[in-house]
Amino acid sequence: MFKHRKFHYGKFPGAAAVLIVTMQLFTAGCVASRTDSLEDAVNEQEKTPAAVSNSIPVSANHADESTSPIFGVSIPDGYRHWELISVSQDSGRNVLKGILGNELSTKAYQDKTIPFPDGSTLVKLTWKRESLSGFENVFVAGPSTMVEVMVKDSKKYAETGGWGFGRFIDGKPASEAQHKSCFECHSRDAKFKNYDFVFTHRAP
Ligand code: HEC
Repeated sequence: MFKHRKFHYGKFPGAAAVLIVTMQLFTAGCVASRTDSLEDAVNEQEKTPAAVSNSIPVSANHADESTSPIFGVSIPDGYRHWELISVSQDSGRNVLKGILGNELSTKAYQDKTIPFPDGSTLVKLTWKRESLSGFENVFVAGPSTMVEVMVKDSKKYAETGGWGFGRFIDGKPASEAQHKSCFECHSRDAKFKNYDFVFTHRAP
């Protein structure tokens, strides 16, 4: 699904140019149908005006629309098949969460290797918490609210404990301001610092 989105982004500047020409040449009805076919890209594109006019420079931190600002982290391919490390819930925000890890990270969990080796990747999925109809006290995962990623690269991300961070909402990276808060919170308590800035322990 993510690859699909990337494909749209890649095609977008060219498609936008075609759209402009189309707008000049054809009727409003024709334009509407072209717009529909580009709907995905247009809705998700923060920088549509820049892409069309080419006049506003794209920020260095947004070199690729699918990667996080500051860190350049993207949603890893195939993460949905990774091992479940644990679950959690935030009843204040009414969300449920699942934390998955790639093979390197789950091996590190198993062998109790801290710090995590380079290449370790953790993904946290957050869903709206919904009660299951007919069962007042049973809660299940509803719509996805965000996907968060931590990638270990001790050299590249030396300033942030060796972790690169990415938060994605509807597949789109969250703001730079949000990404400034990641390491701040993950490093604020010595207890977690000693666990390589990771909160989640492996559920039995
Ligand atoms: C205010 C504190 C806070 C901030 C800010 C924060 N996190 Fe976390 N993060 C947590 C907590 C607490 C957990 C433990 C799992 C849970 O219950 O959500 C966590 C867990 C994670 C995990 C699973 C691995 C782990 O450490 O347990 C990932 C991945 C993650 N966060 C990514 C991010 C990213 C990306 C950002 C910034 C966009 C971010 N976090 C910002 C508190 C924070």
